[in-house]
Amino acid sequence: MPGIRAFAHALPKVELHVHLVGSASLPTVLELARRRPSAGVPTDARELAEFFTFRDFAHFLTGYLAVTSLVRDRHDIHTLVAGLAADLAAQNCRYAEVTVTPYNHLLDGMPGDELLSGLETGRARAAELGVELAWCFDIPGEKGAKAGQETLVFALRERPEGLVSFGLGGPELGVGRARFEPFFTRAREAGLHSVPHAGETTGPATIWSALHDLGAERIGHGTSCAGDPALLEHLAAHRIPLEVCPTSNVRTGQVPSIAAHPVRRMLDHGVVVTLNTDDPPMFGATLTGEYVAVAEALGLSALELVRLAENAVDASFLDERRKALLRSEITQITLPDPGNFA
Ligand code: ADE
Ligand code: ZN
Repeated sequence: MPGIRAFAHALPKVELHVHLVGSASLPTVLELARRRPSAGVPTDARELAEFFTFRDFAHFLTGYLAVTSLVRDRHDIHTLVAGLAADLAAQNCRYAEVTVTPYNHLLDGMPGDELLSGLETGRARAAELGVELAWCFDIPGEKGAKAGQETLVFALRERPEGLVSFGLGGPELGVGRARFEPFFTRAREAGLHSVPHAGETTGPATIWSALHDLGAERIGHGTSCAGDPALLEHLAAHRIPLEVCPTSNVRTGQVPSIAAHPVRRMLDHGVVVTLNTDDPPMFGATLTGEYVAVAEALGLSALELVRLAENAVDASFLDERRKALLRSEITQITLPDPGNFA
């Protein structure tokens, strides 16, 4: 299908689900690993590719946390943010909400000021590159209520420029969403949006809990909603967007292939789907690539890809003026004749 990649590349895009540490390019991970070989992250490109071949979600998370431990100071944070911004700019991605996990960095010994300083200078560099960045501070769920409390305190005390949302990541198995209700309640009272991961590695009950207990305004992944017709109906009726990350789900073994991904069922039920990368170099993903992969697997038309890009604008926490600007940029893109790639 000629033309899909060029079209998906040119489409002005928004990324709503990408983890800062998981966005580190392979050369950056190698450079950090060489500085700190004892962390167990390979210092050789071939070995790193092997390291990023995941048996399952738990295996992925172990690798992810090992890479996290390489990040030591404001310069490293700046390098990650500026690198992500350059990757996004090169793909015509105009705006991204980036998940940062302060508790993990604080636990690894990074002073809070170092983290904040790196985020601020990185965000300024992103603006120079034409990419606006916003932050989601998320709780690493596996570290329990203490992580919830400290993430909340850090978020509300520091409230850096660009902080828009509060999240919950890590494993879901044995890490019920409801345990984090007090922290989400306070974060929401303080004006942060609620965007927990749910239904990535467990069933629809976790998504219901994210909605009821955490007041989720968007769902990170939400993959398992497809097995619950009432939930599909609820998500569609209430226009709760899903941050779908198809390649991530394949690479952590949650779905066998993009073609088998429930994104088709989500769309058929009128759920607001957005496409995202999660941890792009770790999964060999790019934002453009997610649009291409889903278009090819589902036989989407150019207009349907435009709708997905518009969904991400609508589902973002940008203000209405900036949403309107982005929508008009998307509208100006030339559709391939006769309107699809077939
Ligand atoms: N942290 C980084 N990537 C994640 C994912 N896909 N799910 C949960 N936590 C994560
Ligand atoms: Zn994620």
